[in-house]
Amino acid sequence: MPDRAGLTAAISKPRVVALPGDGIGPEVTAAALEVLARVGDFEVEAHPIGGAAIDEHGVALTDETLEGCRIADAILLGAVGGPKWDSTDPAAPRPEQGLLGLRKGLGLYANLRPVRPSPALLDASPLRRERIEATDLMVVRELTGGIYFGERGRTGAGAAFDTCAYSVPEIERIAEVAFRSARRRVTSVDKANVLETSRLWRETVERFAGDRRRAARGEGADPREDDVELEHMLVDNAAMQLISRPHDFDVILTENMFGDILSDEAAMLTGSIGMLPSASLGVTDAPGVFEPVHGSAPDIAGTGRANPLATIGSVAMMLRFGLDRPAEAEGVERAIDEALADGLRTPDLGGDATTAEATAAVIERL
Ligand code: IPM
Ligand code: MG
Repeated sequence: MPDRAGLTAAISKPRVVALPGDGIGPEVTAAALEVLARVGDFEVEAHPIGGAAIDEHGVALTDETLEGCRIADAILLGAVGGPKWDSTDPAAPRPEQGLLGLRKGLGLYANLRPVRPSPALLDASPLRRERIEATDLMVVRELTGGIYFGERGRTGAGAAFDTCAYSVPEIERIAEVAFRSARRRVTSVDKANVLETSRLWRETVERFAGDRRRAARGEGADPREDDVELEHMLVDNAAMQLISRPHDFDVILTENMFGDILSDEAAMLTGSIGMLPSASLGVTDAPGVFEPVHGSAPDIAGTGRANPLATIGSVAMMLRFGLDRPAEAEGVERAIDEALADGLRTPDLGGDATTAEATAAVIERL
């Protein structure tokens, strides 16, 4: 006989926590929740994060929000930040602390950012169609280590420091995610010609790949695992190659800050940063956070002009990686592609469709 908790879990709906945040965050989150509601029956509970939480509670992430997230099945996040809370005072609370605290608090070390230009948008990118055609890559970004979480501070007047630190286990576990996601190649991006953390990164990824290759050749192993090749690339060179031959990349494995920068660059391959979804995952039982790669776009907040497709795409990733509903995930992705093929263009893509029209266009095609 299952215990009470087991019984409740078996009969209750999946729990989704929504963290709309700031700027266009609430608008794109509402749009994505509308799509989610068409796909299935979910219990949705909203909490403030970022600037909205600072205004309400004085901190960007309250204990209550973090607890609510811990017991959720998946978390949908809009965006955080805005000029209202911008300050260089190290003592002032910052909206970004909410997002970073959530990633760290839930142990979400693996950030997956797939970059696949929708066929209908091949002419919407500032890059020529021939350049971006056949691009289908994934940035696998380490999310809870590196310079984002190292020691930092001000030393007297006129000096400041941030430290970048990585350990072997931190590198191994993200390498594992990258190799599992790869079909043909992992490009590990670092700055090993300068940084000590990058040399440890390179050495660890190399050893991990070697062990994996040997294991794949062993008895009873899956020989397909042997097919994934590993290359190393310096981050400045990677920034260039990403623009000049994006279709050659499969999985880009990289540390926290390089991944932040390269994923914004990669977003332009899809025509607009308003198109890129992401998933942040941790150990098996931790709920994932699903969010658009773009920020809070305070300049267009409240105008109804935000592109909701990155957040709707994040709902697809949530269905696939967080709620174990791969068929529904594909359905949402197909609906997005079809809406674009039928001409849907929000202002960031050169059109004039509103957030509401874009959302309706996707829902119609589900
Ligand atoms: C991202 C964002 C965040 C990051 C900010 C808002 C803290 O740029 O998710 O890429 O730097 O990780
Ligand atoms: Mg970023």
